[in-house]
Amino acid sequence: MAKRIAVLTSGGDAPGMNAAIRAVVRTAISMDMEVFGVDRGFRGLIDDNLSPLDSSSVANIILRGGTLLRTARCLEMLEESGRAKAVETLRKNNIEGVVVIGGDGSFAGAQELSRRGILAIGLPGTIDNDLAYTDWTIGFDTALNTAVEAMKRIRDTMSSHDRVCIVEIMGRHCGDLALYAGIIGGAEAILVPEVTFEVDDLCTLLVNSRRRGKMSSIVSLAEGAGSALQLAPILKERTGLDIRATVLGHLQRGGDPSAQDVLLATRCGVRAVELIANGATSRVVGTRSGKIIDVDIDEALAMKRTFNMELYNMVSILSR
Ligand code: F6P
Repeated sequence: MAKRIAVLTSGGDAPGMNAAIRAVVRTAISMDMEVFGVDRGFRGLIDDNLSPLDSSSVANIILRGGTLLRTARCLEMLEESGRAKAVETLRKNNIEGVVVIGGDGSFAGAQELSRRGILAIGLPGTIDNDLAYTDWTIGFDTALNTAVEAMKRIRDTMSSHDRVCIVEIMGRHCGDLALYAGIIGGAEAILVPEVTFEVDDLCTLLVNSRRRGKMSSIVSLAEGAGSALQLAPILKERTGLDIRATVLGHLQRGGDPSAQDVLLATRCGVRAVELIANGATSRVVGTRSGKIIDVDIDEALAMKRTFNMELYNMVSILSR
């Protein structure tokens, strides 16, 4: 059984990463393993920037946002030289297993470590919910609640002024946050990268809705489908309506994790260490129908996400 393991967080941070780190550390300690925290994701592996973590190192972080270990997007891991340095650091420190908490780019890094003989397990840490093998990613629920709260506040002021607001929500390639926030926040329209839309149709929708007596509207726009700051003046000119734009930006990545995210992160963290203890490698942990599952990394990365069209189609009914 592996005696020494490391844990790192990589890519964009996500609320719940700290709960996952804590679960990894404490589960490993319960199995008599030594645990090392890697500073700033793969960057710290390349630079040999590791520190031992004990039970007290992860005290009182379970409900805190951000990541204790810090994170980075490390382009050097895309190159052979970077990967070799990362593995060298692990071997030098006699570390046999690594838990990588991040999104698909981070999983590709974990896969490379695994190919070089390290026991590597991935946990889905991203607010985007863009990983097909798992129903939910760690951080999505918190970011969603933040976006919904923001929409609620925006709705108050829009209705006071009879205005329309385009709310831009994170998600470069995946519209899940904009979709769920739009449905829950009662948006009149949802624009996502998965579904093409015409500006003319949106103008017609907003004008018709005003004619029917709806004095304020919210458009939930995923960043991957367009820019709120660019779209608002175009819509304003074409419809004559008073239109504002709000970009939620990194507000969505910060904040204390929701109970749902902490639970998911904790369950995934425990499973990751159990897998390493059993000698498993190249697997990613996630959830399906409420159960914790693990899947081969290649298989997980090859899976195509299915966008929830059923939910998306509800907006035209519910916003009337
Ligand atoms: O974490 C994923 C994500 O939030 C995307 O939705 C967003 O486009 C991106 O990260 C922004 O990341 P950053 O500004 O940290 O590079």
